[in-house]
Amino acid sequence: MELKVLKQEIDRIISSEDSNENTLQKICDYLERTVSYYDWVGFYFKNGTKNELKLAQYTGEETEHTIIPFGKGICGQVAMSNENFVVQDVSEQENYISCGWKVKSEIVIPIFVNEKNIGQIDIDSHTANIFTEKDELLLEYICKKIALILN
Ligand code: SME
Repeated sequence: MELKVLKQEIDRIISSEDSNENTLQKICDYLERTVSYYDWVGFYFKNGTKNELKLAQYTGEETEHTIIPFGKGICGQVAMSNENFVVQDVSEQENYISCGWKVKSEIVIPIFVNEKNIGQIDIDSHTANIFTEKDELLLEYICKKIALILN
């Protein structure tokens, strides 16, 4: 993965002055299309005042998990821990919500606006043990950039 090129393209998408919804959708589409092992890319955000996440933009197979209570699954845990969560083998996770048998690994990175965890980017892969520190760096970069437009 060529981090520099990916970051440049993300910068270009974010500076294109589209609506936030379209920008987030373009980021999902771009990442899923460009990184071979990103098979599902989506954003979840805190649902108003409720302690739950709501699915926003995504690219990949449709999921029934459009609402995830805080604490449930990988996503719900990140909503509470405020930390990156990299799962190299989802079959080893007890607190995991399956979005299909093909998914083998998952990475979730929180988005902070004014130091508050407002949501996250969630990526599923059909390959186990595939995520590295590079993915964390890229996705942290993207989450910081997104925070600036959601601010
Ligand atoms: N696997 C997630 C649920 C969301 S899907 O991956 C789209 C979880 O355990 O929270």
